[in-house]
Amino acid sequence: MEPAGPASHAASVEARRPIGVFDSGLGGLTVLRALIDLLPHEPTVYFGDTGRFPYGPKPADEVCKHALEIGDLLADRGVKMLVVACNSAASAALPALRERYEVPVVGVVEPGVRAAASATRTGRVGVIGTVGTIASGAYQQAARELDIELECAACPGFVEFVEAGDTESDQVHVLAERLLAPVRAADVDTLILGCTHYPLLARTIADVMGRDVVLVSSADETAFEVRAELGDVAGVDEGAPTHEFLTSGDVATFRRLGTRFLGPEVGTVGEWRWS
Ligand code: DGL
Repeated sequence: MEPAGPASHAASVEARRPIGVFDSGLGGLTVLRALIDLLPHEPTVYFGDTGRFPYGPKPADEVCKHALEIGDLLADRGVKMLVVACNSAASAALPALRERYEVPVVGVVEPGVRAAASATRTGRVGVIGTVGTIASGAYQQAARELDIELECAACPGFVEFVEAGDTESDQVHVLAERLLAPVRAADVDTLILGCTHYPLLARTIADVMGRDVVLVSSADETAFEVRAELGDVAGVDEGAPTHEFLTSGDVATFRRLGTRFLGPEVGTVGEWRWS
């Protein structure tokens, strides 16, 4: 066997760097779950901007500013890739993030649309997201290249229920009945959960949409894209990798709900204060 040269040493140092993942709060943990399941050797660092949540109703330039601040702090932590696990941030900031960092930046919008395009039989696809995501036109743009017809609906209020840990109450159900009415009326056979918080409401959304509608979350497809991007800097099997968590909001709430939504990987949660 050839002795490891400087190039392979550099690649293995690179491989040990974590993947940075962020969201406005807890929703991005649905993407992190898919990443950890598909890539069990990758160390990760997750930032939940719960102190400035929600992003959905904010103007795009403000969300973009937040995303770049988080990108900077993750870049300072030496991440080898940035995963924007928030549709609102991806819709507002993906080009700016890609321009600013040398590491690959992966979003959630295109992977979600791709997954829906392969799931639909009729070509009639619904997409639900925050007010900011739907207004940005990011989904409409991503769908243009594929042969699908999109019916979009904003779902203000959903994410607040998730951040409060309420995913199945009667109140969420009543809200879902009202907000999902346009996509139900459009007779879609596939529904993109265009907000990373929504997979946590999947049972309620599925109940309202009915059994014939396929729910598509971008989490798995995003994880596949991350795997493809990693190439030779993919992490190697060196025992359990580290998973670091940071929140700009309440640490105890993040730990409690994070453990419920992600699982046992949520260990120590660091507190981050924006100055
Ligand atoms: N999870 C975020 C998304 O995918 C947004 C929630 C919010 O902050 O409004 O859009």
